[in-house]
Amino acid sequence: MTPLFDISGKNVIITGGAMGIGFGIAQRFVEGGANVVLADLDAKVADAAAKKLNALGKGRAIPFAVDIASTDAGTKTAEICVREFGSIDVLINNAGIYPQVPLMQMSAEQFDRVLAVNLRGLVLMSKAVGARFIEQQKGGRIINIGSVDSLHPSMVGLAAYDSSKGAVLMFTRSFALEMAPHRVQVNIILPGGVATEGTNRPLAPGVNPEQARAQMEMFIKMKIPLGRMGQPDEIAGAAIYFASAASSYVTGSSLIIDGGLLLT
Ligand SMILES: NC(=O)c1ccc[n+]([C@@H]2O[C@H](COP(=O)([O-])OP(=O)(O)OC[C@H]3O[C@@H](n4cnc5c(N)ncnc54)[C@H](O)[C@@H]3O)[C@@H](O)[C@H]2O)c1
Repeated sequence: MTPLFDISGKNVIITGGAMGIGFGIAQRFVEGGANVVLADLDAKVADAAAKKLNALGKGRAIPFAVDIASTDAGTKTAEICVREFGSIDVLINNAGIYPQVPLMQMSAEQFDRVLAVNLRGLVLMSKAVGARFIEQQKGGRIINIGSVDSLHPSMVGLAAYDSSKGAVLMFTRSFALEMAPHRVQVNIILPGGVATEGTNRPLAPGVNPEQARAQMEMFIKMKIPLGRMGQPDEIAGAAIYFASAASSYVTGSSLIIDGGLLLT
């Protein structure tokens, strides 16, 4: 049988790969023999994450400290990947922020920051890596991490986030159309609630950890049919699908992984 889900030897950029969903994906990719660039704002955590991954003794991991909201982040990250690993096969646009602030209390600067990271950063990263894919002439894969909020608001206070994630879904489709002639496939994963460093922090200002925990328990009870949060590793499987031969005829597509959240 053809190894449909083989990712060994692939060179992969994962934005926000130092923790949470990004790290969960990185772990499975390195375990599968891929080489990963952990492009992350948090240099210290990215260093520690790379050390942990390299100890697996399979693929290689290198940390790269970068703010994906900066205009040259994409070209710099692509350069590092090519310099260290020789080429790029897969880009996983995972870095994202989700401050829970109702729009009526949100400053223009806060709104801009959410859009700069979640949308503009993802777009410019895709453009820079897309240029490399065209140069390399061997196709490529871009996997965006959207959210169930790309389709439906999950809670109050996420107007900026939901705007960015809705736009990322439409960008995925549009860019898939543009890049298809170059055999570059662009798809999106739409996670529901996943237990990460990010979701373990209180999302809203002024909420203490105790209140945040109670809110989370209520959210799970009311909203998630499978009765629990997902784990980062449960998103990794979809990333492997979109990065491998198993999805050779799939582009502009989305996959919801939400424990049934959107059914409620
Ligand atoms: N956790 C969830 O429930 C959930 C649900 C749906 C979608 N998502 C999406 O999944 C992605 C990851 O979420 P998570 O919960 O793992 O987050 P997290 O906060 O646990 O981790 C995010 C990582 O991204 C990095 N990062 C943040 N801003 C960055 C920037 N400007 N440049 C480079 N790196 C940056 C952080 O340092 C961190 O390592 C996000 O796009 C998020 O919107 C998460």
